[in-house]
Amino acid sequence: MTPPGFLFCCDPLRPRLPDPQFAQEAAAARRAGAQTALVDHDALLAGDAESAVGGVRRDSGPYWYRGWMIPPARYPELERALSARGCSLLTDASAYRTAHELPGWYEAFSELTPRSVWRALPAGEALPDGSVWSRLAGALAPGPGIVKDFVKSRKHEWHEACFVPELGDADRLASVVGRFLELQGDFLAGGVVLRAYEPFVPGGEARVWWVDGEAVRVTAHPDTPDRLPSPGLDAVGEAVRALGCRWVTTDMALREDGTWRVVEVGDGQVSGLPAGDDGGSLFEALLRP
Ligand SMILES: Nc1ncnc2c1ncn2[C@@H]1O[C@H](COP(=O)(O)OP(=O)(O)O)[C@@H](O)[C@H]1O
Ligand SMILES: [Mg+2]
Repeated sequence: MTPPGFLFCCDPLRPRLPDPQFAQEAAAARRAGAQTALVDHDALLAGDAESAVGGVRRDSGPYWYRGWMIPPARYPELERALSARGCSLLTDASAYRTAHELPGWYEAFSELTPRSVWRALPAGEALPDGSVWSRLAGALAPGPGIVKDFVKSRKHEWHEACFVPELGDADRLASVVGRFLELQGDFLAGGVVLRAYEPFVPGGEARVWWVDGEAVRVTAHPDTPDRLPSPGLDAVGEAVRALGCRWVTTDMALREDGTWRVVEVGDGQVSGLPAGDDGGSLFEALLRP
């Protein structure tokens, strides 16, 4: 059997080279013994998956993808286009959606992550009345909350579009969700998630990288590259194994009461490394049979 390779995103300006954001990683993957190929992320998102994989050699093996996030609705198109060239992805479309979107991973992590509720908002559908959000928040305890979509928050617009001081304040909740939706616009992923706020100790999150249910690396979170906390992982490993996805990340934060919590889960293929970290031994773990 052909050993796994890596599909990196190409540089949109020089499509024969990896995107500068991933060039160091592509070199590290090759040093680890993997073959690498390039996919055109712009073409994939524009709906032209066939051109996106035009540079991937026929029958060149199963691949891990490594690059920019792919909307879960586009991922099957990448899968099909690769399959037409006799190639495959080691994370299938269903596993990708499961790890990438909160509703997919929430149940497996429900004891380890802030309580959350959500409402899907299919693209093109009229936005619901603001009162919907209070009814949704009714399933959470009163107190502060966080707004995000199935994948991302607007954490850099914290007071305006992320943090809700009191979920019971219907007007404020509707205003924060409304602003969040306005800022996300067409890039809204899946729908709206409301989460109970938990007080975390400042000091940065740890990003734990899991391959086949084993923690293979702990890195700093890309937002706080110079801080590397070391979280307790026993219960998290069980949840990761219950999730059943081969390559995932868990972002961990220390709650003020001393408990390590999972802030979010991600598909490892599209989780960022902190600046200056080329992945190194991560790629070796992904090449093990
Ligand atoms: N439930 C929560 N309680 C407290 N802080 C939170 C909560 N959810 C998110 N945060 C804070 O907001 C940041 C962004 O949230 P996160 O879910 O990781 O979204 P993103 O995908 O945008 O990184 C987190 O790193 C954390 O600092
Ligand atoms: Mg995050």
